[in-house]
Amino acid sequence: MEELETIRARALEAVAAAASLEALEAARVAALGKKGSISGLMGRLGAMGPEERKAAGALLNAVKDEVAAAIAAAKAGLEAKALDERLARERVDVTLPVRPARQGRIHPIAQVMDEITAIFAQMGFAVAEGPDIEDDFHNFTALNIPAEHPARQMHDTFYFGERADGGRHLLRTHTSPVQIRTMLSQQPPIRIIAPGRTYRCDSDMTHTPMFHQVEGLVIDEHTHMGHLKGCLTEFVRTFFEVDEVPVRFRPSFFPFTEPSAEVDIGCSREGGELKIGPGKGWLEILGCGMVHPNVLRACGIDPDRYQGFAFGMGVERVAMLKYGIPDLRTFFESDLRWLEHYGFLPFDLPTVTGGLTR
Ligand code: PHE
Repeated sequence: MEELETIRARALEAVAAAASLEALEAARVAALGKKGSISGLMGRLGAMGPEERKAAGALLNAVKDEVAAAIAAAKAGLEAKALDERLARERVDVTLPVRPARQGRIHPIAQVMDEITAIFAQMGFAVAEGPDIEDDFHNFTALNIPAEHPARQMHDTFYFGERADGGRHLLRTHTSPVQIRTMLSQQPPIRIIAPGRTYRCDSDMTHTPMFHQVEGLVIDEHTHMGHLKGCLTEFVRTFFEVDEVPVRFRPSFFPFTEPSAEVDIGCSREGGELKIGPGKGWLEILGCGMVHPNVLRACGIDPDRYQGFAFGMGVERVAMLKYGIPDLRTFFESDLRWLEHYGFLPFDLPTVTGGLTR
């Protein structure tokens, strides 16, 4: 069986030359497959005499094992190489930054609510909250706006479907229902502000269906209109950071206050630029008044003993005036470029002592 040496050499050569798993498999079939060269030699053993067969069989088995071992080693090598190539191809560098660094901003509405809160907190006001979804009683009736009152139409209310008891829930049209909730749940003296979302079915250049207000309420035995004036004048000067802002209290009407007033602040419009401060113009920024005795009564507070004032301010409006934001609708467009321009850095927390704006 001298050809055994040739077959062995050729098989090992083919195994060594196989550059892929497919080529290696072909080499295996050629040597060890049913019709392979080594299997062919095995078939010839039957025709030999016992002694010769024993010797040839041993030799043949040794070659067969050697070739099989070479194939196994080559296979492991090729598989490792294939894995390495795949790992290199699918490599992910987890140390790369996720995205080019982009700094988050505080929305001007949030910032201005924080500024307003900081100023009133300094004056001893606590923050109160109420639900966005209200009922007739808290949003209207208890605020001295009975069922057929025209003020109900004025408010363009979003109503929910009728309930089994005939009542309807609604989206609060102002933060004034928080006055009611506060007076029903705590005894005077009361000194709170209530920042929050409000809703009216109204949408144009200067109105959005959702907007923000900050309500204020002071109830005790001796707070009068003079305190209301002083408190709001002080607020306006601190908030706008202009020392001599003219503040004007203009008589007005709200069902839940008597007397009622609207507060205007002075401005100038020289060269087309709006500036808060002394000037020819006036801008309305909030509604206020002395809490109506009917409202106190609706909350179980004796109007002969207690009195006080309330106010309600539009947050978007004062934010636009303070920061020169020309269009109300941009507040709600979620435009990152807008936010980068008008937004505030997260650590610029407004404080009265440290500065409201930096
Ligand atoms: N609730 C009134 C509004 O939304 C504002 C206001 C509040 C007026 C408190 C007087 C007192 O227009």
